[in-house]
Amino acid sequence: ASERGAAGVIVVNNEDGPMNGGTLGDPDVGKVPTGGVSKADGAALEQAGGDVTLTLDTTTESSTARNVIAQTKTGSTEDVVMVGAHLDSVPDGPGINDNGTGVAATLETAVQLGGSPDVDNAVRFAFWGAEELGLLGSEAYVNSLSEDQRNDIALYLNFDMLGSENAGYLAYDGDNSDNVGEGPGPEGSAGIERTFTEFLQNNGVAADGTDFDGRSDYGPFIEHGIPSGGVFSGADETKTPEQSQKWGGTPDVVYDENYHSATDTLENVNRAALAKNAAAVAYAVGVYAESLAGPNG
Ligand code: PHE
Ligand code: ZN
Ligand code: ZN
Ligand code: ZN
Repeated sequence: ASERGAAGVIVVNNEDGPMNGGTLGDPDVGKVPTGGVSKADGAALEQAGGDVTLTLDTTTESSTARNVIAQTKTGSTEDVVMVGAHLDSVPDGPGINDNGTGVAATLETAVQLGGSPDVDNAVRFAFWGAEELGLLGSEAYVNSLSEDQRNDIALYLNFDMLGSENAGYLAYDGDNSDNVGEGPGPEGSAGIERTFTEFLQNNGVAADGTDFDGRSDYGPFIEHGIPSGGVFSGADETKTPEQSQKWGGTPDVVYDENYHSATDTLENVNRAALAKNAAAVAYAVGVYAESLAGPNG
């Protein structure tokens, strides 16, 4: 189980069920997280007869994760353009594409923008902790804000995986034109999707929409009705023959064979894809810092 502590502090521990000494027939035995004893095991033992006390090995682990947030000194703080990428990775791999690429593009955009750019809207950068544990950092952050503070966020841009080896060129499907199932995102998300697809189109790439279902740190933002978007080069889904026709790469193979594995290394980053997507990051941040109406407004 995991739970949130104070804003930005994530406490992860296993506190369901008895820590040890669960007794046969105790319904809680089946809930022990790491003891390796299931309810079915208990029932089988019980049928065999006898009054047996089980001693279960459990591990309790607490850790603290942090978000790093930085905002321009200039621009309206009532129309904040928020930009985020997660800093953490999974234990199985170094996390260079997931999500060193998103962090690098976001950080370089922040460096180029500087602390006091001549912009209409303030830009707030977020480097999230504990995304891989279930969007814990972004959720803690969004929930830590008052309603007024949330209303001051005009939009949120998310960057998670920008250089997948067999890259897709995907924009979160804010208008639900490409996906069935999930509805469109919060009003305004369609325009953000268009900003990215138009930019990529002008750079010779015909992007597709991709799931806008909350599988990255934009989830807590769209849950609160904040218009959101971003680009993504794909993870564990398969590139179609049509997509490899227009983008190159290998059809019928996943976008990122290194996803969540030890081979998510620097040498497996698709630098051509990262270059295009990083340019899209900088472009969209610049556009919305200038005007919430977007590139055509
Ligand atoms: N959020 C996922 C991760 O960090 C990446 C992902 C996004 C995978 C969307 C699939 C779809 O691992
Ligand atoms: Zn991941
Ligand atoms: Zn990720
Ligand atoms: Zn779409």
